[in-house]
Amino acid sequence: MIDHPLRILFIAAEADPLVKVGGLGDVAGSLPLAVKHSRPGIDIRLAIPFYPAIRQSGIEVKPVGSSQIRYQDRLLDIQFFVTEKYDIPIYLIDGLPISQSGAVYGTNFEQDAEKFIFFSLAALKLPQVLHWQIDILQANDWHTAISLHAVRKMSEAFPEFASVKTILTLHNLPFMGTGSEKALEKFAVPPCRNPRMPSWAKQLPLPMGINSADKVVAVSPTYAQEIFTPEYGCDLQNFLLTKRTRIMGILNGIDYQIWDPQKDACLKQTFSAVTLEDRRENKRALQNEFSLPQEENIPLLTFIGRMDRQKGIDTILSAIRLLDTRNWQLIVLGTGDKTLEKEVTTLQQEYPEQIRTILRFDGALSHRLYAGADILLMPSRYEPCGLAQLIAMRYGCVPVAMATGGLVDTIVDFSKNPAHGTGFLCAEQDTHCYATTIQTALQIFLNQTDWRKIQENAMQQDFSWQISAKKYIELYHSIL
Ligand code: GLC
Repeated sequence: MIDHPLRILFIAAEADPLVKVGGLGDVAGSLPLAVKHSRPGIDIRLAIPFYPAIRQSGIEVKPVGSSQIRYQDRLLDIQFFVTEKYDIPIYLIDGLPISQSGAVYGTNFEQDAEKFIFFSLAALKLPQVLHWQIDILQANDWHTAISLHAVRKMSEAFPEFASVKTILTLHNLPFMGTGSEKALEKFAVPPCRNPRMPSWAKQLPLPMGINSADKVVAVSPTYAQEIFTPEYGCDLQNFLLTKRTRIMGILNGIDYQIWDPQKDACLKQTFSAVTLEDRRENKRALQNEFSLPQEENIPLLTFIGRMDRQKGIDTILSAIRLLDTRNWQLIVLGTGDKTLEKEVTTLQQEYPEQIRTILRFDGALSHRLYAGADILLMPSRYEPCGLAQLIAMRYGCVPVAMATGGLVDTIVDFSKNPAHGTGFLCAEQDTHCYATTIQTALQIFLNQTDWRKIQENAMQQDFSWQISAKKYIELYHSIL
């Protein structure tokens, strides 16, 4: 037991609102704050890279110190800054590999590896610079995973970490840090020596981090189990099984301030579970905005997100063509894989009266879609947690999703549990099965009493960060 308030350093490649590319940014921007709000005595602080884009945003920062790190036969400078604009200190770490980089995630794997390995090792100097002895180091995904390996395998370089416990939160197993070998050598990070790890993984930051972490937390309990299977384990399943007792799942939450249908300023009409009829106004507004027939009785489907295979946009393209009714409309919002974007546009040409595609990132429109569409399509191939279904449910937009990962943990399938159903789950990774699931939902939509019950059930779920924060706090105490 420790006799002082817990001290936690939380490190990630992105954190909203300073920098956000995907779901990791939402989590890193929310979870540390939720922990702080839930237990103000806990001293949790966040560190992210000081990307050129953050610098250019004109953010006010204070320098807090500097350090150096070995890189081949020279030393690289590290500069630490802090912003005190938030309820916890957020440190911004700079140095050549960061200041010379472009996008948060570039297309050059080796350059990204240099940047994130530099950041991960530099973050380990922060406690020393601040004279702040931490109890827990929490890293996220491959970008920061190497820090957990470094504190164990380079203990002469980081002696103050001997008694620090480490947690790796796993948001996405397939991204392991390909192309890191050279960078690891340049920073003198030794490979992993665990004979139970496949040799191809011994110089990949994510498996190296998993190997060293005291706890690995997947972002949902189901995903935490799925990664032990050949289907989801990315060829690490046998190694992961050797770490079974250290792996667990904690669901993410969503920011209830940002996502609140009763107060959302982006909406034409705010509403709640008791004033669901007001929601119609938002659907009408969408139909109007996108020149779709303004009919209340035509179910409006939406897909909101990255256009890639993980999110199953290609499954939607095929499933739509299998539907035996044309009584639906679909609005697709997102960007991503150029081939998939093209295919979505082709689909729109086949169904000019029914489909609209908006190939851009548009936060405000996403709010309007959650608030106006009847159904969210989310046939993910794998989904460690998933955010869109949580937001959709809060806005009374019923998810029709693949039964995988966090989707299983957050959606109650109406077909199995009509009294408590909050959406529809497709049991098989199969286009026909998904088309059938959409059809079932379209059928139930015709019965507005049943539909309203599903919407109410969905809106009454609690996916706020408080619950996740409590679970993390329990975990922090249990590992110390
Ligand atoms: C990744 C996962 C997604 C998860 C998010 C935040 O983007 O693909 O399922 O919700 O991380 O943890």
